[in-house]
Amino acid sequence: MHKDVEKILVSEEVIQHRVGVLAKKVLEKGEGNIMVVVLLKGALVFAADLFRRMPVMLDVECLNVSSYHGGLESSGEVKFLDACLPDFTGKRVIVVDDIYDTGLTMQSVCTKIAAEGAESVESCVLLAKDKKRDVDFEPDYIGFTIGDEFVIGYGLDYRGKYRNLPYIGVISQDAI
Ligand code: PRP
Repeated sequence: MHKDVEKILVSEEVIQHRVGVLAKKVLEKGEGNIMVVVLLKGALVFAADLFRRMPVMLDVECLNVSSYHGGLESSGEVKFLDACLPDFTGKRVIVVDDIYDTGLTMQSVCTKIAAEGAESVESCVLLAKDKKRDVDFEPDYIGFTIGDEFVIGYGLDYRGKYRNLPYIGVISQDAI
């Protein structure tokens, strides 16, 4: 275990099993016209594992959005950082993110993609925090529900670091 990790919340084995289950659930609803939209940077690792478990023809696009700006709490503002967006027309878009916290990121992105002409938009998150939210939105697929802790690993960062840990862990207070 990394020295800056207080405890492992979800092990590598448990993550990998759940990712397989989520991929299956997505494909159960249909296999055609899928476009996986990866929300950078946090969803990189999860999305790469997820779509490799979907043995169908699909598109992969990335969106560069940011709400935390490297800190511990959401800034409350979702920034779309790409100069232009992919063509979502006629696609069954699966938006993939690492964590659903305030819900602002996923809600903003899904609303935008729907307005851009997608056939349908679904959301898939590895982690969802168990907390009360202001947004009127629920992800379609959730890997694990966790408490309101600051977690790192498997794509999730603290100040840009720890994304390469293969498990989800709680950061130790000494590292903050
Ligand atoms: C994090 C995370 C989600 C979002 C979730 O992104 O990756 O996209 O915040 O929070 P919300 O539900 O409160 O909106 P961040 O802005 O830290 O960028 P990153 O993915 O590049 O780390």
